[in-house]
Amino acid sequence: MTERVVVAYSGGLDTSVTIGWLAERTGAEVVAVVVDVGQGGEDLDVIRRRAVDCGAVAAEVVDARDEFAAEYCLPAIRANAGYLDRYPLVSALSSPLVVKHLVAAARAHGGTVVSHGRTGTGNDLARFEVALAALAPDLTVVAPARDVAWTRDQAVAFAEEKGLPIDTSARAPYPIDQNLWGRAVEAGFLADSWRGPVEELYAHTADPTLERDADEVVITFDAGYPVAIDGETVTPYQAILELNRRAGAQGVGRLDLVEDRLVGIKTREVYEAPGAITLITAHQELEAITIERDLARFKRGVDQRWAELVHDGLWFAPLRTALDAFVDETQRHVTGEVRVNLHGGRATVTGRRSEAGRFDVGSATYDTGDGVDQSFAKGFVQLWGLPSKLSAARDARLGGVRS
Ligand code: ARG
Repeated sequence: MTERVVVAYSGGLDTSVTIGWLAERTGAEVVAVVVDVGQGGEDLDVIRRRAVDCGAVAAEVVDARDEFAAEYCLPAIRANAGYLDRYPLVSALSSPLVVKHLVAAARAHGGTVVSHGRTGTGNDLARFEVALAALAPDLTVVAPARDVAWTRDQAVAFAEEKGLPIDTSARAPYPIDQNLWGRAVEAGFLADSWRGPVEELYAHTADPTLERDADEVVITFDAGYPVAIDGETVTPYQAILELNRRAGAQGVGRLDLVEDRLVGIKTREVYEAPGAITLITAHQELEAITIERDLARFKRGVDQRWAELVHDGLWFAPLRTALDAFVDETQRHVTGEVRVNLHGGRATVTGRRSEAGRFDVGSATYDTGDGVDQSFAKGFVQLWGLPSKLSAARDARLGGVRS
């Protein structure tokens, strides 16, 4: 019986060459699965047909947009996901979902072998293969892009020689990854960390320096989930899509950073994630008024660890599940509204309110008649400062140096 290989296909250069290479070199029947995580751009039906033209016996498109928004992007909002405090995990979030559907397609098509186009030392290679090991350890993985390790020029040459229909974007000088949560551009001249990004790199954000009127948006959250925009109820997918549009039009969400890859290499990447940055900014601000101090301090560490785990390809690790359970508990009262001004490339919070808010106007003002008896403060600060006072006395006695 001819072997079946199921390939996670994006329509780009590496996965197109992967299909052509597998069909030619292994004689296996190749089935392509295109997972729609809101990457937009090309028509997915065109991509599906391209898979067949590259040599696949069948190709299917799976619409995973709502699932991606609800089950991957929303947890990222609640965890204020920012790898190295900034990168909102665009590719890191979609990889586990793509693998989930790759496995489902392998089961449906009777494939025992799966494949992908992830290469060498990239983070996505680890994300794909760790997720595969967790979800389907019985499946064999073949990854010519990883093993043959073709260069971009060699891949283009192979495609041309075999007549594979790679489109012009596959010939673009930089590999781009995009989904509903954002867009990542790397390599090419960006490999020189001193060279600035040029305007042509951006596709989801307008030039923030151009003059235009500000936009103002009110985002409603319920238990840490965005549920309405300007009072209109939205699904998670609609919330992100709408804020991508409105914040993108104001040039919000551009990032230029050098980040640490899983394998320890540093890499320069340019991102645009208007909806993600706006939602996380607003969510963080609502947490500021609804989460008690010590819980908020502890959560900051959890948020950071969550982003590192997901970045490092450990979405299916038990620690991520346990951290999500913690985050879930913290979000019980993160319900309310945040007003955000979108302008000049920035999402600036200008108002926040919540029925569950712990911010008490009465106790925070210095007006007379506030809610706290000030005489309590006298004893409190004396005890609070006691350790410092005792240490200072000892240093004075023994001649220690204090600065
Ligand atoms: N560095 C980012 C990550 O590891 C993005 C990777 C994909 N980037 C790209 N330009 N194709 O998640």
